[in-house]
Amino acid sequence: MTTQSITSELAMELEHKYGAHNYHPIPVVLAKGRGVKVWDVEGREYYDFLSAYSAVNQGHCHPRIINALIEQAQTLTLTSRAFYNDKLGLYCKYITEYFGYDRVLPMNTGVEGGETAIKLARKWAYQIKGVPRHHAKIIFARNNFWGRTLAAISSSTDPESYGNYGPYMPGFEIIPYNDLEALEIALQDKNVAAFMVEPIQGEAGVVVPDEGYLRKAYELCKQNNVLFIADEVQTGIGRTGKLLACDYEGFKPDILILGKALSGGTIPVSAVLARDEIMLTIRPGQHGSTYGGNPLACAVAMTALQVLKDEKMTENAYRLGFIFRERMNALIQKTNLIKLVRGKGLLNAIVVNDTPDSKTAWNLCMNFKKNGLLAKPTHGNIIRFAPPLVITEDQLHECCDIIDKSVLEYKKDS
Ligand SMILES: Cc1ncc(COP(=O)(O)O)c(C=O)c1O
Repeated sequence: MTTQSITSELAMELEHKYGAHNYHPIPVVLAKGRGVKVWDVEGREYYDFLSAYSAVNQGHCHPRIINALIEQAQTLTLTSRAFYNDKLGLYCKYITEYFGYDRVLPMNTGVEGGETAIKLARKWAYQIKGVPRHHAKIIFARNNFWGRTLAAISSSTDPESYGNYGPYMPGFEIIPYNDLEALEIALQDKNVAAFMVEPIQGEAGVVVPDEGYLRKAYELCKQNNVLFIADEVQTGIGRTGKLLACDYEGFKPDILILGKALSGGTIPVSAVLARDEIMLTIRPGQHGSTYGGNPLACAVAMTALQVLKDEKMTENAYRLGFIFRERMNALIQKTNLIKLVRGKGLLNAIVVNDTPDSKTAWNLCMNFKKNGLLAKPTHGNIIRFAPPLVITEDQLHECCDIIDKSVLEYKKDS
């Protein structure tokens, strides 16, 4: 069976019948993407307002990224780290200079980046800080999301995420997000190795902390000899209108985790960046991944970061973010269906005026789909809007018109 012969209905049926039921997608079957747009199997066109959870910041099938992918795929794809390859060294130099760190540890998925950061923090705690063996503690914020491994769900406060998967990873403590007092108290424990936090909580519903929170949290970590780990897997790489969301507050995290858009939505590529003192605590044989640092990933990531810079996508996200929130605030004046819009750059969300267990946000997304725009609710009554950063101002207005129309024509019991 070829993709040409498949219908949307059949594709969904096959997935439902033979795949695990671990997702609940919006019922649309996509077959093609270019820039800010995607097309379904029947050729219907949509604006993509999710960007694969911010992995497609550079737009679908960016020609330069795809060319780098094809060229490298025809040359050398994987060597493992048993041997050197001719791209990894160049990539290490490129990405460390790009973000201003001493060293990079390449992995594949975002969650592996998180695991790596925590392992680094624990090693650093034992070897440099002098925490007694097996006593290192990592602090997380409530409602964090950094993936689905056992360590990631062990720090989760969402029962959907951690329920019935125990026993859980010890050595984690959870404090409220955006609460400096709670952090100050938690940092009194001398065994704390790191505070790991998202500068904006994406999956929690684009929750933006108070201005100054991150900078002050970083300073508190410094005062207590604790590492600040920024999980910028979703917020990094231009998404929030700065290269990193932490850049808004003018400090450099001790450990930076990147993923998603590092490959422009082509293959899983993640990276952990840190200074020598932290990174060199891990010695040969103590951590790694078969695919981590593969030449295909290196070639793609260098191009994905370069096009972001060359095409000024970060600046575009910064500017268009204000226009988007202005348009949504104007819409809020015309309807009581939406309570609030929040976000930075092109990472935004609207909060629907209904309970988290209501169907309103889902039904609104179905309306958006009918009118040619794809988005998905998170946590029931929140809808995230994160288009590719290559969107133009005219396209953004067109999309806001679609959102306006879909909201204003919405009937509560539809
Ligand atoms: C902030 C953050 N960290 C980590 C991850 C995990 O990334 P991945 O799904 O590539 O493992 C995600 C995924 O949504 C994320 O939003």
